Amino acid sequence: MKEINNITVIGAGNMGHQIALHAAICGFNVICTDVNSDALNKAKNFVDTYLPERVVKERLSQVEAEAARSRIQFVDELALAVSEADYVIEAVIEKLAIKRALFKDLDRLAPAHTILASNSSAIVSSKIADATLRPDKVLNLHFFNPALVMKLVEVVQGPHVSDETVKASMALCKKLNKKPVLLKKEVDGFLLNRLLDAIGREANWLLEMGVASIEDIDMACVYGAGHPMGPFRLNDLTGLDLSYIAAMENFRNSGDPKDLPPPTLVEHYSKGEYGEKTGQGWYQYDKTTDE
Ligand code: 3HC
Repeated sequence: MKEINNITVIGAGNMGHQIALHAAICGFNVICTDVNSDALNKAKNFVDTYLPERVVKERLSQVEAEAARSRIQFVDELALAVSEADYVIEAVIEKLAIKRALFKDLDRLAPAHTILASNSSAIVSSKIADATLRPDKVLNLHFFNPALVMKLVEVVQGPHVSDETVKASMALCKKLNKKPVLLKKEVDGFLLNRLLDAIGREANWLLEMGVASIEDIDMACVYGAGHPMGPFRLNDLTGLDLSYIAAMENFRNSGDPKDLPPPTLVEHYSKGEYGEKTGQGWYQYDKTTDE
Protein backbone atom coordinates (compact mmCIF):
# COMPACT_ATOMS: atom_id res chain seq x y z
CA MET A 1 0.00 0.00 0.00
CA LYS A 2 1.25 3.48 -0.94
CA GLU A 3 2.48 5.66 1.93
CA ILE A 4 -0.14 8.15 3.12
CA ASN A 5 1.06 11.74 2.74
CA ASN A 6 -1.92 13.57 1.28
CA ILE A 7 -5.24 13.66 3.12
CA THR A 8 -8.41 15.27 1.81
CA VAL A 9 -11.24 16.08 4.20
CA ILE A 10 -14.64 16.58 2.61
CA GLY A 11 -16.97 18.79 4.62
CA ALA A 12 -15.68 21.80 6.56
CA GLY A 13 -18.31 21.68 9.32
CA ASN A 14 -18.02 20.94 13.04
CA MET A 15 -15.95 17.79 12.58
CA GLY A 16 -14.34 18.22 9.16
CA HIS A 17 -12.45 21.44 9.74
CA GLN A 18 -10.91 20.16 12.97
CA ILE A 19 -9.95 16.79 11.48
CA ALA A 20 -8.27 18.63 8.58
CA LEU A 21 -6.39 21.04 10.83
CA HIS A 22 -5.32 18.27 13.17
CA ALA A 23 -3.91 16.27 10.26
CA ALA A 24 -1.97 19.34 9.05
CA ILE A 25 -0.55 19.89 12.55
CA CYS A 26 0.52 16.24 12.55
CA GLY A 27 2.55 16.73 9.35
CA PHE A 28 0.21 15.65 6.55
CA ASN A 29 -0.51 17.66 3.40
CA VAL A 30 -4.19 18.40 3.74
CA ILE A 31 -6.92 19.70 1.50
CA CYS A 32 -10.24 20.65 3.04
CA THR A 33 -13.18 21.01 0.68
CA ASP A 34 -16.87 21.82 0.96
CA VAL A 35 -19.68 22.58 -1.49
CA ASN A 36 -20.63 25.50 0.75
CA SER A 37 -18.16 28.36 0.27
CA ASP A 38 -19.28 30.02 3.55
CA ALA A 39 -18.41 26.86 5.48
CA LEU A 40 -15.03 26.71 3.74
CA ASN A 41 -14.30 30.36 4.58
CA LYS A 42 -15.30 29.81 8.21
CA ALA A 43 -12.96 26.82 8.37
CA LYS A 44 -10.12 28.90 6.93
CA ASN A 45 -10.81 31.71 9.42
CA PHE A 46 -10.81 29.18 12.25
CA VAL A 47 -7.40 27.85 11.19
CA ASP A 48 -6.01 31.39 10.88
CA THR A 49 -7.19 32.20 14.40
CA TYR A 50 -6.49 28.87 16.08
CA LEU A 51 -2.85 28.44 15.06
CA PRO A 52 -1.62 31.83 16.37
CA GLU A 53 -3.58 31.16 19.58
CA ARG A 54 -1.71 27.87 20.01
CA VAL A 55 1.55 29.78 19.70
CA VAL A 56 0.46 32.32 22.34
CA LYS A 57 -0.59 29.39 24.57
CA GLU A 58 2.83 27.81 23.92
CA ARG A 59 1.24 24.61 22.62
CA LEU A 60 2.99 25.08 19.25
CA SER A 61 6.11 27.00 18.26
CA GLN A 62 5.86 29.74 15.64
CA VAL A 63 7.69 27.48 13.19
CA GLU A 64 5.34 24.54 13.83
CA ALA A 65 2.26 26.74 13.44
CA GLU A 66 3.54 28.23 10.18
CA ALA A 67 4.44 24.77 8.87
CA ALA A 68 0.95 23.47 9.72
CA ARG A 69 -0.66 26.47 7.99
CA SER A 70 1.44 25.89 4.87
CA ARG A 71 0.28 22.24 4.74
CA ILE A 72 -3.47 22.95 4.67
CA GLN A 73 -5.35 24.25 1.65
CA PHE A 74 -9.01 25.10 1.19
CA VAL A 75 -10.27 24.08 -2.23
CA ASP A 76 -13.84 24.30 -3.49
CA GLU A 77 -13.59 21.96 -6.46
CA LEU A 78 -13.99 18.31 -5.52
CA ALA A 79 -12.05 16.94 -8.51
CA LEU A 80 -9.05 19.11 -7.66
CA ALA A 81 -9.34 18.38 -3.95
CA VAL A 82 -9.04 14.61 -4.35
CA SER A 83 -6.86 14.28 -7.45
CA GLU A 84 -3.72 13.52 -5.42
CA ALA A 85 -5.28 12.21 -2.21
CA ASP A 86 -3.92 9.06 -0.60
CA TYR A 87 -6.67 9.07 2.01
CA VAL A 88 -10.07 10.79 1.93
CA ILE A 89 -12.13 11.46 5.06
CA GLU A 90 -15.74 12.34 4.38
CA ALA A 91 -17.50 14.46 7.03
CA VAL A 92 -20.63 15.70 5.29
CA ILE A 93 -24.27 15.73 6.38
CA GLU A 94 -25.68 12.45 7.75
CA LYS A 95 -27.88 11.65 4.75
CA LEU A 96 -27.32 8.29 3.12
CA ALA A 97 -28.28 9.41 -0.41
CA ILE A 98 -25.85 12.34 -0.26
CA LYS A 99 -23.01 10.14 0.99
CA ARG A 100 -23.65 7.49 -1.68
CA ALA A 101 -23.62 10.09 -4.46
CA LEU A 102 -20.43 11.60 -3.04
CA PHE A 103 -18.63 8.25 -2.76
CA LYS A 104 -19.61 7.43 -6.34
CA ASP A 105 -17.94 10.69 -7.43
CA LEU A 106 -14.93 10.06 -5.20
CA ASP A 107 -14.45 6.64 -6.75
CA ARG A 108 -14.31 8.29 -10.17
CA LEU A 109 -12.13 11.24 -9.18
CA ALA A 110 -9.61 9.89 -6.65
CA PRO A 111 -6.56 7.77 -7.59
CA ALA A 112 -7.08 4.01 -7.61
CA HIS A 113 -5.03 3.45 -4.42
CA THR A 114 -6.96 6.01 -2.33
CA ILE A 115 -8.80 4.83 0.78
CA LEU A 116 -12.23 6.44 1.16
CA ALA A 117 -13.27 6.77 4.80
CA SER A 118 -16.49 8.09 6.25
CA ASN A 119 -16.53 9.94 9.56
CA SER A 120 -20.28 9.30 9.85
CA SER A 121 -21.56 8.96 13.43
CA ALA A 122 -24.34 6.68 12.34
CA ILE A 123 -24.15 5.30 8.81
CA VAL A 124 -22.17 2.09 8.40
CA SER A 125 -19.89 1.96 5.38
CA SER A 126 -21.51 -1.15 3.89
CA LYS A 127 -24.45 1.11 3.00
CA ILE A 128 -22.07 3.29 0.97
CA ALA A 129 -19.29 0.98 -0.28
CA ASP A 130 -21.29 -0.51 -3.15
CA ALA A 131 -21.62 2.94 -4.70
CA THR A 132 -17.92 2.52 -5.53
CA LEU A 133 -15.84 -0.01 -7.44
CA ARG A 134 -13.42 -0.26 -4.48
CA PRO A 135 -15.55 -1.49 -1.55
CA ASP A 136 -12.47 -3.05 0.06
CA LYS A 137 -11.09 0.49 0.50
CA VAL A 138 -14.27 2.06 1.96
CA LEU A 139 -14.64 2.12 5.75
CA ASN A 140 -15.81 4.12 8.75
CA LEU A 141 -13.14 6.16 10.51
CA HIS A 142 -15.03 7.84 13.31
CA PHE A 143 -13.53 10.84 15.14
CA PHE A 144 -14.98 12.53 18.22
CA ASN A 145 -15.88 16.13 18.93
CA PRO A 146 -13.81 18.28 19.36
CA ALA A 147 -11.62 16.39 16.92
CA LEU A 148 -8.55 18.49 17.69
CA VAL A 149 -8.73 17.26 21.29
CA MET A 150 -10.44 13.88 21.60
CA LYS A 151 -7.98 11.02 21.22
CA LEU A 152 -10.38 8.26 20.27
CA VAL A 153 -10.95 7.15 16.69
CA GLU A 154 -13.12 4.14 15.83
CA VAL A 155 -11.92 2.09 12.87
CA VAL A 156 -14.76 -0.11 11.66
CA GLN A 157 -14.16 -3.22 9.60
CA GLY A 158 -17.36 -3.99 7.75
CA PRO A 159 -17.50 -7.31 5.87
CA HIS A 160 -16.30 -5.67 2.63
CA VAL A 161 -13.23 -3.92 4.13
CA SER A 162 -9.83 -5.48 3.45
CA ASP A 163 -7.31 -6.19 6.22
CA GLU A 164 -4.89 -3.98 4.31
CA THR A 165 -7.27 -1.00 4.51
CA VAL A 166 -7.76 -1.55 8.24
CA LYS A 167 -4.02 -1.84 8.82
CA ALA A 168 -3.33 1.39 6.91
CA SER A 169 -6.13 3.19 8.77
CA MET A 170 -4.93 2.06 12.21
CA ALA A 171 -1.39 3.17 11.30
CA LEU A 172 -2.69 6.52 10.06
CA CYS A 173 -4.55 7.12 13.35
CA LYS A 174 -1.36 6.49 15.28
CA LYS A 175 0.50 9.02 13.09
CA LEU A 176 -2.31 11.43 13.94
CA ASN A 177 -1.51 10.85 17.65
CA LYS A 178 -4.94 9.30 18.15
CA LYS A 179 -5.95 6.18 20.04
CA PRO A 180 -7.67 3.96 17.48
CA VAL A 181 -9.98 1.13 18.49
CA LEU A 182 -10.93 -1.55 16.00
CA LEU A 183 -14.54 -2.65 15.62
CA LYS A 184 -14.38 -6.09 14.10
CA LYS A 185 -18.04 -5.94 13.05
CA GLU A 186 -20.32 -3.19 11.85
CA VAL A 187 -22.96 -2.11 14.31
CA ASP A 188 -25.24 0.96 14.18
CA GLY A 189 -23.88 3.71 16.42
CA PHE A 190 -20.49 1.99 16.52
CA LEU A 191 -18.96 1.70 19.99
CA LEU A 192 -18.76 4.88 22.07
CA ASN A 193 -21.93 6.49 20.68
CA ARG A 194 -23.87 3.37 21.73
CA LEU A 195 -22.60 3.87 25.27
CA LEU A 196 -23.20 7.63 25.21
CA ASP A 197 -26.64 7.14 23.63
CA ALA A 198 -27.64 4.84 26.47
CA ILE A 199 -26.75 7.59 28.96
CA GLY A 200 -28.43 10.23 26.79
CA ARG A 201 -31.66 8.19 26.50
CA GLU A 202 -31.80 7.71 30.25
CA ALA A 203 -31.02 11.41 30.83
CA ASN A 204 -33.88 12.41 28.52
CA TRP A 205 -36.25 10.01 30.28
CA LEU A 206 -35.31 11.47 33.71
CA LEU A 207 -35.90 14.97 32.32
CA GLU A 208 -39.20 14.15 30.58
CA MET A 209 -40.48 12.44 33.75
CA GLY A 210 -39.64 15.55 35.77
CA VAL A 211 -37.27 13.61 38.02
CA ALA A 212 -34.45 16.17 37.83
CA SER A 213 -33.39 19.31 35.96
CA ILE A 214 -30.96 19.43 33.04
CA GLU A 215 -28.37 21.04 35.31
CA ASP A 216 -28.71 18.40 38.03
CA ILE A 217 -28.57 15.47 35.60
CA ASP A 218 -25.38 16.94 34.13
CA MET A 219 -23.96 17.59 37.61
CA ALA A 220 -24.61 13.96 38.59
CA CYS A 221 -22.51 12.73 35.65
CA VAL A 222 -19.70 15.21 36.29
CA TYR A 223 -19.46 14.94 40.07
CA GLY A 224 -20.62 11.34 40.55
CA ALA A 225 -19.17 9.58 37.54
CA GLY A 226 -16.23 11.87 36.71
CA HIS A 227 -17.38 12.61 33.16
CA PRO A 228 -15.84 15.79 31.68
CA MET A 229 -19.36 17.07 30.97
CA GLY A 230 -22.93 15.82 31.44
CA PRO A 231 -25.11 14.44 28.60
CA PHE A 232 -27.03 17.68 27.93
CA ARG A 233 -23.93 19.86 27.88
CA LEU A 234 -22.27 17.26 25.62
CA ASN A 235 -25.29 17.29 23.31
CA ASP A 236 -24.94 21.08 23.00
CA LEU A 237 -21.34 20.49 21.91
CA THR A 238 -22.09 17.75 19.37
CA GLY A 239 -25.29 19.36 18.08
CA LEU A 240 -28.98 18.71 18.76
CA ASP A 241 -29.55 18.72 15.00
CA LEU A 242 -27.20 15.76 14.66
CA SER A 243 -29.03 13.86 17.43
CA TYR A 244 -32.41 14.60 15.87
CA ILE A 245 -31.35 13.52 12.39
CA ALA A 246 -29.67 10.36 13.74
CA ALA A 247 -32.76 9.42 15.80
CA MET A 248 -35.05 9.93 12.80
CA GLU A 249 -32.73 7.84 10.62
CA ASN A 250 -32.83 5.07 13.25
CA PHE A 251 -36.61 5.28 13.38
CA ARG A 252 -36.89 5.10 9.60
CA ASN A 253 -34.73 1.96 9.65
CA SER A 254 -36.36 0.22 12.61
CA GLY A 255 -39.94 1.51 12.55
CA ASP A 256 -39.71 1.26 16.34
CA PRO A 257 -41.31 4.29 18.13
CA LYS A 258 -38.75 4.00 20.94
CA ASP A 259 -36.14 5.22 18.42
CA LEU A 260 -38.02 8.50 17.88
CA PRO A 261 -36.33 11.62 19.29
CA PRO A 262 -37.71 12.65 22.71
CA PRO A 263 -40.30 15.50 22.68
CA THR A 264 -38.04 18.15 24.26
CA LEU A 265 -35.33 17.46 21.68
CA VAL A 266 -37.91 17.78 18.88
CA GLU A 267 -39.02 21.11 20.36
CA HIS A 268 -35.46 22.50 20.40
CA TYR A 269 -34.79 21.15 16.90
CA SER A 270 -37.93 22.70 15.44
CA LYS A 271 -36.88 26.10 16.84
CA GLY A 272 -33.39 25.79 15.29
CA GLU A 273 -31.82 25.49 18.75
CA TYR A 274 -28.95 23.18 17.90
CA GLY A 275 -26.61 23.89 20.83
CA GLU A 276 -23.42 25.92 21.12
CA LYS A 277 -23.25 26.68 17.42
CA THR A 278 -26.61 28.53 17.42
CA GLY A 279 -26.20 30.06 20.88
CA GLN A 280 -29.11 28.04 22.28
CA GLY A 281 -29.60 24.35 22.95
CA TRP A 282 -30.25 22.73 26.29
CA TYR A 283 -28.31 25.71 27.67
CA GLN A 284 -27.97 29.28 26.46
CA TYR A 285 -24.60 30.57 25.22
CA ASP A 286 -23.28 34.11 24.84
CA LYS A 287 -22.01 33.74 21.33
CA THR A 288 -22.69 31.53 18.34
CA THR A 289 -19.85 29.38 17.05
CA ASP A 290 -19.27 28.35 13.47
CA GLU A 291 -20.56 25.05 12.26
N1 3HC B 1 -12.25 22.89 19.80
C1 3HC B 1 -10.91 22.74 19.88
N2 3HC B 1 -10.25 22.65 21.05
C2 3HC B 1 -10.99 22.74 22.16
C3 3HC B 1 -12.40 22.90 22.15
C4 3HC B 1 -13.02 22.98 20.90
N3 3HC B 1 -14.33 23.10 20.75
N4 3HC B 1 -12.83 22.94 23.42
C5 3HC B 1 -11.76 22.82 24.22
N5 3HC B 1 -10.65 22.72 23.46
C6 3HC B 1 -9.29 22.53 23.93
C7 3HC B 1 -8.75 23.77 24.61
O1 3HC B 1 -8.14 24.61 23.69
C8 3HC B 1 -7.77 23.17 25.58
O2 3HC B 1 -6.60 22.81 24.90
P1 3HC B 1 -5.15 22.94 25.61
O3 3HC B 1 -5.27 22.45 27.01
O4 3HC B 1 -4.23 22.11 24.79
O5 3HC B 1 -4.84 24.39 25.56
C9 3HC B 1 -8.42 21.84 26.00
O6 3HC B 1 -9.34 21.50 24.94
C10 3HC B 1 -9.16 21.95 27.30
O7 3HC B 1 -10.12 23.00 27.15
P2 3HC B 1 -10.77 23.80 28.35
O8 3HC B 1 -9.78 23.89 29.49
O9 3HC B 1 -11.33 25.08 27.81
O10 3HC B 1 -12.05 22.99 28.75
P3 3HC B 1 -12.20 21.57 29.38
O11 3HC B 1 -11.02 21.14 30.16
O12 3HC B 1 -13.53 21.58 30.00
O13 3HC B 1 -12.27 20.57 28.10
C11 3HC B 1 -13.48 19.38 26.49
C12 3HC B 1 -13.21 20.76 27.09
C13 3HC B 1 -12.22 18.83 25.86
C14 3HC B 1 -14.53 19.58 25.41
C15 3HC B 1 -13.96 18.44 27.64
O14 3HC B 1 -15.05 19.04 28.30
C16 3HC B 1 -14.40 17.08 27.16
O15 3HC B 1 -13.60 16.19 26.97
N6 3HC B 1 -15.74 16.89 26.98
C17 3HC B 1 -16.31 15.64 26.52
C18 3HC B 1 -16.27 15.61 25.02
C19 3HC B 1 -16.83 14.32 24.49
O16 3HC B 1 -17.33 13.47 25.20
N7 3HC B 1 -16.73 14.18 23.16
C20 3HC B 1 -17.30 13.08 22.47
C21 3HC B 1 -18.64 13.48 21.99
S1 3HC B 1 -19.50 12.22 21.12
C22 3HC B 1 -19.04 12.47 19.51
O17 3HC B 1 -18.21 13.27 19.20
C23 3HC B 1 -19.72 11.60 18.57
C24 3HC B 1 -19.68 12.05 17.17
O18 3HC B 1 -20.28 11.05 16.40
C25 3HC B 1 -20.34 13.40 16.93
